[in-house]
Amino acid sequence: MIGVFDSGIGGLSVLAAIARTLPGADLTYLADTAHVPYGPRSDAFIQGRVLAIGHHLAAQGCGLIVVACNTATAAAVQALRAELPQIPVVGVEPGVKPAAQSSRTRRIAVLATESTARSERLARLIRTHAEGVQVLVEPCPGWATRVETRDFDSPAFRQEMAEKVERLLAAGADRLVLGCTHYSFLSHLLTPLLQGRAELVDVAAPVARQAQRLAGRAAGGQGRLLLQATARPEQLRHSLPALGLGWLAERTRESACLAAV
Ligand code: DGL
Repeated sequence: MIGVFDSGIGGLSVLAAIARTLPGADLTYLADTAHVPYGPRSDAFIQGRVLAIGHHLAAQGCGLIVVACNTATAAAVQALRAELPQIPVVGVEPGVKPAAQSSRTRRIAVLATESTARSERLARLIRTHAEGVQVLVEPCPGWATRVETRDFDSPAFRQEMAEKVERLLAAGADRLVLGCTHYSFLSHLLTPLLQGRAELVDVAAPVARQAQRLAGRAAGGQGRLLLQATARPEQLRHSLPALGLGWLAERTRESACLAAV
């Protein structure tokens, strides 16, 4: 079984890519909805959550853990690997490398939570993979919560997105990296704002391929899905059709509430 987790529903974008890549694998998804969003939290808090969830998934028998959250990866993937050395762990990091490689203007932007935006891990990723490319790091406070509550339609939020994108386009960015898994579910709103002048970069599919490479026996099973949440688990299942993931609901064998994790 493969365990996938996020602070909330954002990691479902990664889960969907894994389910497409490994249709026979048993999957379990854990949304830490009692503590979402992680973006404004301290590194110590996020690390505590990641280790608790990692232990829980290991105890459930997961042979591979996917941290489907850029914020949790930046703050705690190293600690998780040290804590569970027997289990391969795949993290999610903003697609700085593919964006920098494909940019024609040599300017890219990374949309991320406050925590990811200030992280040393993102700074290192940029130093390593974006030499000679200007990287505009854009914290997007509140965006993950908008996705979590599926509250996309407020004119104020539409305006905020439009202004941010316009500013990045005016600065010459031709790649906008979705540096938070929740933002995948904003693609349909962001794409029209790009006016064909830039492309969004999402790493869900490459992360799923990496999970496939590392899964080994964890990729076995009967294609079942267990949905778990630390609060409001029923909302997780109900959110799938609204996110265009109704097909995942059909694989779901049960939903569980894990207030104690
Ligand atoms: N989905 C998460 C990420 O990829 C975090 C969103 C949040 O909880 O603030 O960064």
